[in-house]
Amino acid sequence: MMKRLQLFIAAFAILAFNPLLALASDHIPLQDFCVAINDTKNGAVFVNGKFCKDPKLANAEDFFYLGLNIPRNTSNSIGSTVTLVNVAQISGLNTLGISLARVDYAPYGGLNPPHTHPRATEILVVLEGTLYVGFVTSNKDNCLITKVLNPGDVFVFPVGLIHFQFNIGNTKSVAFAGLSSQNPRVIIIANAIFGSNPPWDLDIKVY
Ligand SMILES: *[C@@H]1O[C@H](CO)[C@@H](O)[C@H](O)[C@H]1NC(C)=O
Ligand SMILES: *[C@@H]1O[C@H](CO)[C@@H](O)[C@H](O)[C@H]1NC(C)=O
Repeated sequence: MMKRLQLFIAAFAILAFNPLLALASDHIPLQDFCVAINDTKNGAVFVNGKFCKDPKLANAEDFFYLGLNIPRNTSNSIGSTVTLVNVAQISGLNTLGISLARVDYAPYGGLNPPHTHPRATEILVVLEGTLYVGFVTSNKDNCLITKVLNPGDVFVFPVGLIHFQFNIGNTKSVAFAGLSSQNPRVIIIANAIFGSNPPWDLDIKVY
């Protein structure tokens, strides 16, 4: 019992005093920016997992992306297409803890299926169309919180929670989303459960 208590106190102390373990989202940068590059030439330094370009050599292109106005093709099995603008597209986003996505939805039924971003909260604004959106809170409530969104409406999906958007209008829909990570990643629930490689070898009765 005493041993267990000591373990608990030790674990608590580690979590409480080590912000690196307690923080799941991106860290605050220690410099103006760190334009990501792959090599160490041109005076690069190593920060937060990537080499940074010498700041004196940074230019506008390092912070720029174009073409997010172009509608994307939604002729696929789910009727939606996500266009990511994260550190892979804008190397100047490295260490800044933010990124963007454009989502196109096919008329009636275009779906961005239930998924989660393990490291990012998402704030979504609808530009065109009508979306039914929602997220589910964690155990044990598993409360489904939903809303119908029209152009100009903004909705937030809290970090880690499973969420979706579904086009219930008879026109195509477009939304833009800001995410609080330079690389939020995505876990699509159906892919994780039914599409894993190799398949889950468990007799799971929960679905
Ligand atoms: C780094 O290399 C990867 C893989 O070769 C490439 O996809 C990426 O665009 C490169 N990034 C930069 C900033 O050059
Ligand atoms: C959209 O994608 C589908 C399936 O790949 C293709 O058949 C169609 O031609 C594309 N439409 C446009 C406008 O590019």
